[in-house]
Amino acid sequence: QDPRIHGIQTKIRVVPDFPREGIMFQDITTLLLDPKAFKDTIDLFVERYKGKNISVVAGIEARGFIFGPPIALAIGAKFVPLRKPKKLPGEVIKEEYVLEYGSDCLEMHVGAVSAGERALVVDDLIATGGTLRAAMNLLERAGAEVVECACVIELPDLKGRERLNGKPLYVLVESH
Ligand code: PRP
Ligand code: MG
Repeated sequence: QDPRIHGIQTKIRVVPDFPREGIMFQDITTLLLDPKAFKDTIDLFVERYKGKNISVVAGIEARGFIFGPPIALAIGAKFVPLRKPKKLPGEVIKEEYVLEYGSDCLEMHVGAVSAGERALVVDDLIATGGTLRAAMNLLERAGAEVVECACVIELPDLKGRERLNGKPLYVLVESH
């Protein structure tokens, strides 16, 4: 394992019972406070995706907006925000997904991604995988090829990886 990963892991604060009882919240704001650990996080992704012909980095609102753009700039790709409902002003396509309580939705601007583009999907964390699944669906409906999904943290006990239809998922840190 890359020696930088341990340093990253130690900067993620785990907050019990937030936002609800029984949830161990993975707080990446403490990682952002450490410039070395934040840079190591971005560098690890950039080293993996540089030279892979990726033209689109799609980041998922809200925390995918923190990690996606620096990766996009460093690999020379465009950044496409996948937003919560009613935030994007142009024509959108939308994907609904199920949460523990209720449902949510992601939207992407029509025309942001062209057929045949190679895309990377970025978020901070995969739990049940529903959010990443919705993001992949948006890109695939636009005709893009999702090369991989990348997250800082995986909660492997929730088996979100199994909802990605065999699409590769790269994570830096697992939390049990
Ligand atoms: C969290 C997290 C991921 C998603 C993972 O976002 O940032 O995006 O949940 O959950 P899943 O794998 O079970 O779908 P959240 O929806 O809480 O919103 P935020 O990023 O806007 O805070
Ligand atoms: Mg999120």
